[in-house]
Amino acid sequence: MPEIPAIYPHKLFIDMSLKINPRITHAARAVFALGDARAYAAWREEKLADYPRTAQQLIVEINDPNHVNDAEYQEIIRICAKTNMAIYACRNGAAMDKATLRRFGERFGLRRMDGNLCADDDGISSLRVMTGGRQQEYIPYTDKPLNWHTDGYYNATDQRIRAFIIHCAASAASGGGNALLDGEIAYIQLRDANPEHVAALLQADALTIPPNIEAGVEIRPEQSGPVFSLDPQGLGLHIRYTIRKRHIEWRQDALTRAAVNSLETLLNGPAASPYIFSHRLEPGQGIICNNVLHNRAGFTDDPHAGVRRLMYRARYYDRIACGPWLEGTAAQPHMKASSSVSAP
Ligand SMILES: [Fe+2]
Repeated sequence: MPEIPAIYPHKLFIDMSLKINPRITHAARAVFALGDARAYAAWREEKLADYPRTAQQLIVEINDPNHVNDAEYQEIIRICAKTNMAIYACRNGAAMDKATLRRFGERFGLRRMDGNLCADDDGISSLRVMTGGRQQEYIPYTDKPLNWHTDGYYNATDQRIRAFIIHCAASAASGGGNALLDGEIAYIQLRDANPEHVAALLQADALTIPPNIEAGVEIRPEQSGPVFSLDPQGLGLHIRYTIRKRHIEWRQDALTRAAVNSLETLLNGPAASPYIFSHRLEPGQGIICNNVLHNRAGFTDDPHAGVRRLMYRARYYDRIACGPWLEGTAAQPHMKASSSVSAP
């Protein structure tokens, strides 16, 4: 195995990843280790070629979510391979219950579900405005805007969220749209502007989340880690990020601060990335993605008219295995297309 040129003095999380899994392709190592400009240029060119510019280009119509046919499956995989996300749209707004959603995810290799604090018993969260209980403490269960983040940025490294599906069961009376940015695009734009910023965000202690303490009891310990990392399982670039300012500790050095500013500039404001997709999910639509950067606009329900936004959200430790990073990816059993999933 060739050595990665150590052109940066930082102790990078990625170095450990490279030792963990020798199956990671040479190309992936070169791209993410910052040491091989030619490999990066080749990957970048391929990544940006014909990259979609509108959310409309990400939409795949699904005839029956209980029986995703091979053409629909291949189209979702093709789009995810390019952008790390796709939007599926069940024809005629066909309903998808949570059991169907689980099977839909399995069709794309998403099996290991994260049971977070507020998830329902089946592991899938029902996101709607809550006026009581623990859930109302968390912004996803309010009608407030949710700023840029990736899901589970506070999770332990061995429980990183590699993918999620968010399915619209009912939309709000107004608002509630999403903005989405492929993390690989964020990586490219940051690296093009200044590779040192990428290096800063690869540091093992770049972003620390203090412990979650409820009523004096620690229910989640402190989590420290990088923003960008090469997944130790060899399944791609992992991104861990939140733009929030409270209860967040960035590494205290000038380079990290500059890198964080650069990333914020990509996400918000007049110099925001032109690669950001905007879409408001309608009933029967959903996003399936490799935990891309995303936000959610605030929204308004109309309870008197019975209009209440309801989203089902499933988070996974698996990744939609559609990237080029792992040698032999295509041979993974769960990636083989089958004719359908069974009906509930
Ligand atoms: Fe989220």
